[in-house]
Amino acid sequence: MSQTYKAVLFDLDGVLADSAREHYAAWKRLADELGLAFDEQKNERLKGVSRMASLDILLEDAPRPYSDAEKHALATRKNGYYQAIIQKVTPDALLPGARQALEACKALGLKTALASASRNAPLLIDRLGIGPLMDFIADAGAAKQSKPAPDIFLMAAKGVAVPPERCLALDDAAAGVLSAKAAGCYVVGVGDADILAAANAIIPDIAAFDPKSYLD
Ligand code: BG6
Ligand code: MG
Repeated sequence: MSQTYKAVLFDLDGVLADSAREHYAAWKRLADELGLAFDEQKNERLKGVSRMASLDILLEDAPRPYSDAEKHALATRKNGYYQAIIQKVTPDALLPGARQALEACKALGLKTALASASRNAPLLIDRLGIGPLMDFIADAGAAKQSKPAPDIFLMAAKGVAVPPERCLALDDAAAGVLSAKAAGCYVVGVGDADILAAANAIIPDIAAFDPKSYLD
C-alpha cells in the first residue's frame, strides 16, 4: 500500500494529556504570588512556548524589571509546582481517545514520535504509561529554538527517520501549529479553529483523530 504519511508527530500537553491545565495552574500560582494579573486568555499565549519564554510573557506587565537570576529562580519555582502535580499523574490523565489514537497509528504501521516543548515530557510520558507506544521522544532541552521555530518537529521526524513532509503533526497551540508548519509537516490542529488558523486541518480533540483518514 502506498502511504503518503509514514509517521505521526504528537504534541503532549493539551493533545495527549490534560497537562495544559496543570501548566496553567502552576503559572497562575506563581502569578498570584507575584501579584500579577494572569488569566486563561493570557495563558493561551503560553501554550507550546518554552518555560523561559512563558515567564517573559507572564512578567511583561510587571511593575519592575526582573534580573536574569530572579527569572531563573521564578522559572524553577513554577517548575517545582508543575512537577509536584505531575508526580501524582496516572494513566487516567490521558485525554479520552489518546491511547487509542497511538494504538491506531501503530496498527497502521505508522511511526509515532513526541514533539513537545516540555522538558518534563519524558517524566510525564512515563507517568501516563504510553512510552511503549512512542518510537521516539524529541528532547526539548536539545532544541536550539523553541516553538514556533521548527526545531522540535524536525528532531521528532529525524528521530523516526521519516522526512517531515511525510509526517502528520498534531498540536493544540498556535505556536505549535506554526512550528510543525515551518518544519514542513501536514498539520492537524487540535482545538479551536480560530486560534489554530494556520493548520491544514482541525479536529476538536484527540478522540476525533482517525489516522486512516489521512492515508491514501
Ligand atoms: C509546552 C506547554 O508543552 O511545554 C507549555 O504547552 C510549557 O505550557 C512548555 O511552558 C515547557 O514546559 P516545561 O515542562 O519544560 O516547563
Ligand atoms: Mg500543547
